[in-house]
Amino acid sequence: MATVTPLDQQRFLVDPAEPRSDALRRELEKLEPRSQRTFTPSGAVIASSSGSYHYTSEGRKLADFTSGVLVANLGHHPTRWWDRVNAYMGLVFQPTCDRYLKATPLTAYNAITEVEVEASRRLIASLRSQPGGARLEQILWAASGSEAVQKGLKAAIARRPDADVILATRHGFHGKKGLAGAVTGSETDEERDPRVRFLSFPMAECISIYRRREPIDLTAYREELNAAYATDGRRICALITEPYLGGGGSYHPQVEYLQLLEQFCREHDILFILDEVQSNFGRTGGMYAYSTYGVEPDVVILGKGMANGMPVDAVAGRRDVLENLGYGDASDTWSAHPLGCAAVLATLDEFETSDVLEHAAQLAIVIEAGLTRLMRLKSILAVRGEGTVWGVHCGSTADRSPAQVAAEIVKRCYLGDEQGRAIHLLGPLAGCVIRIAPPLTMDLEEALEYLDAMYEIVAEIN
Ligand SMILES: Cc1ncc(COP(=O)(O)O)c(C=O)c1O
Repeated sequence: MATVTPLDQQRFLVDPAEPRSDALRRELEKLEPRSQRTFTPSGAVIASSSGSYHYTSEGRKLADFTSGVLVANLGHHPTRWWDRVNAYMGLVFQPTCDRYLKATPLTAYNAITEVEVEASRRLIASLRSQPGGARLEQILWAASGSEAVQKGLKAAIARRPDADVILATRHGFHGKKGLAGAVTGSETDEERDPRVRFLSFPMAECISIYRRREPIDLTAYREELNAAYATDGRRICALITEPYLGGGGSYHPQVEYLQLLEQFCREHDILFILDEVQSNFGRTGGMYAYSTYGVEPDVVILGKGMANGMPVDAVAGRRDVLENLGYGDASDTWSAHPLGCAAVLATLDEFETSDVLEHAAQLAIVIEAGLTRLMRLKSILAVRGEGTVWGVHCGSTADRSPAQVAAEIVKRCYLGDEQGRAIHLLGPLAGCVIRIAPPLTMDLEEALEYLDAMYEIVAEIN
């Protein structure tokens, strides 16, 4: 039985000024087990969302510094995006028939829809149009990031009957289910899958720096890789890593480290799998993280922002890898769902025909300047990130532990400052790192204003 942690005893914020939200929080606690959600101290009850803002049940406006959980990269409910989703679904209002609309079916299980074929074609074209995308030849759809990781690893294991060992970089987050859970975290976690070996990730080298800004000595990492090969050799089928540690606390390594991992894979015919569930669709600055890191993955895991909030994930990879699974080995009720495929197409349209990446580059400058200012405060140890994905690493104060500081920041930002400027944040990563990842489309002036508000709020926490 799982142990009860102090986190399990935490309760959502109670605010007498929010009677409706409070009532809903209490009701939810009765109706759903706490395992349903990752704990977010604010327990924000969101009635509606638009652009870069959420609105609570009391009508209070919150700037969204999370994009959901890095999903609404284009903001919440962009009108043109929804129009496109509907158009790709072929939604037709039939004036002569009042019972049924006509549209693409809401199933992909026992039929092939045109929208699925088009989404696969367009996604492959997008991936391959970027530097480093040459190996990505097929799409295997999934309905969650964990599932996509699991499918990618299953295909890798199936490639060579004698090779079932997976190398994974330590403290990564790839999901909670099955093989995705097995490659998450480190060997000290319980119930380890005996096929997984962990490798060091350069956390110490990037604890207080931003990506690429300081050289890294790769000697120890190279030796560790060689030792892994000396132990398991041809039994190693794949190496999986993230462009940066996301759930592990926003550690963004120097690209040379990722290039070393890829080079090792090339030397030994090991598949290099890059989990881009968080980073894809513009988060780190390029359309995909690999497109700016000088690596060429054999398999890329996609998710979150790829459909701007619709639940779609996918594995993109070499044909000779993904074809190792037979009919049904990776199928399920929802994967390649037409609505998801329509959303992927609408999202690709938006990235390909608008200036979203250029705007994101401007926003990245604003965020970096706004957040690095926080390092002047006693309660903040470090600020790390790139593009529009950042982590604010909290330290301790006289009265609070780092985790308490982080929880306090989330709560106080939710309640807002005297001018009514309030911010929606995720529950801290790795206990004490606050994720900052607003929609790529957030207005620059507004970002500046809310970063200022955040600075004022954090400055009051001692
Ligand atoms: C890098 C990465 N991979 C995989 C996952 C798992 O995705 P899901 O929660 O959709 O299963 C996540 C989720 O945060 C992630 O950040």
